[in-house]
Amino acid sequence: MRVIRGRVFFRGRLDALSLGIGENGKIVAVKKSLRGDEEVDHGDSLILPGCVDLHVHMRDPGLTDKEDFPSGTRSAAMGGVTTIAEMPNTAPPVTSRLAYEEKVAALRGRGAVDYVLYAAPRSEEAVTRLGEAAAFKAYMAESTGALQVGPGELEGILRGAQTSRKLVVVHAEDPRQFMRGKVRGLEDYSAARPKAAESSALHWLASSRGEARIHIAHVTCVEALDAVPSGATCEVTPHHLFLDTSRPIGARGKVNPPLRLPVDREALWDAFRAGRIDAIASDHAPHTLDEKGVPFDEAPAGLPGVATSFPLLMRRTRAGEIDLARLVSATASRPAEILGIAKGIIEVGRDADLLVVDPRTAERIRAKRLRYKCGWTPFEEMEACFPHTVYLRGESVVEDGEPAAEGQGRLVSTE
Ligand code: NCD
Ligand code: ZN
Repeated sequence: MRVIRGRVFFRGRLDALSLGIGENGKIVAVKKSLRGDEEVDHGDSLILPGCVDLHVHMRDPGLTDKEDFPSGTRSAAMGGVTTIAEMPNTAPPVTSRLAYEEKVAALRGRGAVDYVLYAAPRSEEAVTRLGEAAAFKAYMAESTGALQVGPGELEGILRGAQTSRKLVVVHAEDPRQFMRGKVRGLEDYSAARPKAAESSALHWLASSRGEARIHIAHVTCVEALDAVPSGATCEVTPHHLFLDTSRPIGARGKVNPPLRLPVDREALWDAFRAGRIDAIASDHAPHTLDEKGVPFDEAPAGLPGVATSFPLLMRRTRAGEIDLARLVSATASRPAEILGIAKGIIEVGRDADLLVVDPRTAERIRAKRLRYKCGWTPFEEMEACFPHTVYLRGESVVEDGEPAAEGQGRLVSTE
C-alpha cells in the first residue's frame, strides 16, 4: 500500500491524515497514521479532491489547431482538474452513434486526466441511439459548432432524456431576445445577447422540461439564477466571476453567453459565496490568437480557462472570501454528483484523484505556464494559487507544478 499524507479535506473539514492507496488506485484507508511501502508526506499542504470540470472543449478531433486532447488535458491537470466532461462540438459533431464511437476511439490513451463525453442528439430518436454517452448537451442559441436546436427538437430531446433518465446540459439563451446592430466591443456584445435572453430561455425550460433532469450551463447573472427551474442545477464560469465588460481585452473576451457589466459580476460573486451556485465549470473554449485578431463581430466566441479555474478560486479562498467547503463542493463533489460519476470526494472506495496545494503560494498567471495550445489566457497577471502535485487514481500527473505523466486518463462511466 502507498501512503499519502497531508492536511486532508475529509468529511467536510481539514485534518492531518494519511490516505492509503491500493493497487487499483483507489483509497483503501483514511487514518491518523498509516504505514506503507511507499510514503509521501505533503506536510501542511492541503489535499483536496481533484476537480471535476463539467464543461470543456478540447477540440479533438477535428479542430486541433486550437487545442488537442493531450494538450488540453495536460493543462487541466496543472490546474488541479482530474476529470473533465468534454463537449460535443468537435468535428464531426457528436450527433450520431458513429461519431460518438469514433470520438471515444480517437481519444483513447491520449488524455492526462479522466473524462466523460457529451453527445448532442438532435431528436428524440437520436437520444436513444446515443445511450452510451454520459450526458447530453443542447444549445438553444447559436454558438461555436452550429448545434442549435429549435423548441420542437428540444422538447423531443427532453422527452427522450426523461425516458432514459439522462442528464441534459442546456446552453440557455433565447435567440428571440437577441438584438441586431453593430457590435464593436464587450459592452455591445452583452447588450446584443442580453441577460433577458437567459431568463427567457429558462422560463421556457421551466414549463417545457417535464421530468427531465437538466443542468444549466454558464449562468452569467443573478437574474438568470433566479429563473433556473426548480430542481435543475446550474454552473457558473470563472470568466463570469473574474472578468467583465470593463476589461480591455476586446475580442479575446468574446464568449457566449457574454461577459456582463461589473455590477453583474459582483452580484454573481455574492451569489456564489451565498451558496446559490452548484458548480464552477470552466467552459474552456480555446480559439487561436489569429482567429481572435479580427474585427470584434467576426471573431469566434469562447476563451480558455481549464487550468486557471481552481487556482483563481483557491487564491480567493486563501484571502478569506470563500469557504474551503464551498470551493470543494463547487469544483469537485457537486459536479461529480450532477454527472453521476464516482469521483469528487475523498473517502474509502473512491479513486485517489487528489490535488495538493499550499495556499500560501501565490503567483501571477502567465499564459506560457498554462501550456494551452492556443498560447493565451484572458486571466493574464491575475493572482492564483496552483496545486504543486496532482494525483490521478493514485499516480502523480503533476509534480512540482509541472506535468509528470500523460496518457493515463480513462473514459469514466456514469452510475
Ligand atoms: C464555445 C466554443 O467555442 O466551443 N464558445 C463559447 O463562447 N462558450 C461554445 C459554447 O459552449 O457555447
Ligand atoms: Zn461551452
